[in-house]
Amino acid sequence: MGLQLKNPLIASSCGLTNSISNIKALEDNGIGAIVLKSMFEEQIHIETEKYIKNGQGDVNTFANAPDTIISKRIYDYDEAYSYIYDYARSNTLDKYLSLISEAKRTVDIPIIASINCISNYDWQSFAKQIQNAGADALELNIYILPSDFRRSAEENEKVYFDIIHEVKKYITIPFAVKLGYYFTSLAQSVQKLSESGIKGLVLFNRPYNSDIDIEKISLSSGNIYSSDFEYNTTLRWISILSEKVSCDLSASTGIHSSETVIKMLLAGANSVQMASVFYKHGFVVIPDFLIGINDWMNRHNFSSIEDFRGKLSKSNLENPAAIERVQFMKLYSGIE
Ligand SMILES: Cc1cc2nc3c(=O)[nH]c(=O)nc-3n(C[C@H](O)[C@H](O)[C@H](O)COP(=O)(O)O)c2cc1C
Repeated sequence: MGLQLKNPLIASSCGLTNSISNIKALEDNGIGAIVLKSMFEEQIHIETEKYIKNGQGDVNTFANAPDTIISKRIYDYDEAYSYIYDYARSNTLDKYLSLISEAKRTVDIPIIASINCISNYDWQSFAKQIQNAGADALELNIYILPSDFRRSAEENEKVYFDIIHEVKKYITIPFAVKLGYYFTSLAQSVQKLSESGIKGLVLFNRPYNSDIDIEKISLSSGNIYSSDFEYNTTLRWISILSEKVSCDLSASTGIHSSETVIKMLLAGANSVQMASVFYKHGFVVIPDFLIGINDWMNRHNFSSIEDFRGKLSKSNLENPAAIERVQFMKLYSGIE
C-alpha cells in the first residue's frame, strides 16, 4: 500500500485499537502497524434510536449532550431523529478524529483508520475528514451477508465497487477493503476488486457469529474470538490469489502463532493482521512472534521476507491443484 512497515505484523481493527494507551503498548511491543477500531455508521443510528426511546444512549456519545438535544427527544420523531442523529454523528466522528490525530502524535508506526460501510452513503464525508486528521491509510470494512433472497450476486457485489468508486473521489491516501468470503466467484471478484483502484485487500474478516442455546431455546452469541486452527481458509485463498491480484494482501483470521504468520507469508501475504490472539494472550506475544519469525528465517537462510514471500503461492507450487483439493479422498487424507 506504499506504507513502510518495520515488520509484517499488524494489529487488526478491534476494541483493543480504540485507545491511545493500547496503541502505545502495541508499538512498544513491536507491532508494525495498527488498524483502529472501525467507525460504525450503523452504531450511530442504533444509539440515536435508543436515545430517542429512553434517553439512554451510549454514555460516551451523549454524556455531554446540550439541553437542546435532551429536549428534542419529546418532539416529532422524524425531526428529533435527524437532529439527534446529527449530534451523535458529529460527536462520534470528532472522537474518532481525535483518536487518529492523538495516535499519530504518540507513535511512529503507520495508523490505518477503519470505516464500516453500509449501503447508506453517510460515511463518504467521514473518509475525507479521516484523511485530514492524519491517518496514513484507510480500511473499508464491508461485509455483505448475501442473505436477501431478492438480491442477485451481481447486485450484492456491485455494492463493493460502488463504495470504492465513491471513496476514490474523496481521498488520496491509500485505502484497502476488508472482506468476508461470501462471493459467488471469489477468485474473479477479488481480482476485479484489486484492479479497482484500492491498494490492499484484507482477507478475511471474521464476522460476529450467532449460536443457539439449546436450554433457553434461543439464539446466543458464537465464539467472539477465533481459535488457532481457523486460519486454513485464509491460507488457501492467499495462496490462490497472491500472484493474481493487483494490490497488496493482508491475511486475517486465526493467526495465533509465528508459525501461522510464516505460513501466510509463504502463501504470498504482504502482511498479517491479528486481533483474537491479543485478547487471549495480550500484546506480549508480539516479541515472541518476531523472535519466532527471525529464528525460522535464520534456520532457512533467508535474510529478508522478500526471499521467501510467495514461495508457496499457488502459481509457484509444483502441483497447484493441491491447494484446491477439497474432498477427503483416502489418497490425500489417509482416512477411509
Ligand atoms: C472484539 C472484536 C471486535 C472487532 N471489531 C472490528 C471492527 O471494528 N472492525 C473490523 O473491521 N473488524 C473487527 N473485528 C474483526 C477483527 O479485526 C479480525 O478481522 C477478526 O477477528 C479475525 O482475526 P483474528 O482471528 O485475529 O481475531 C473485531 C474482532 C473482535 C474479536
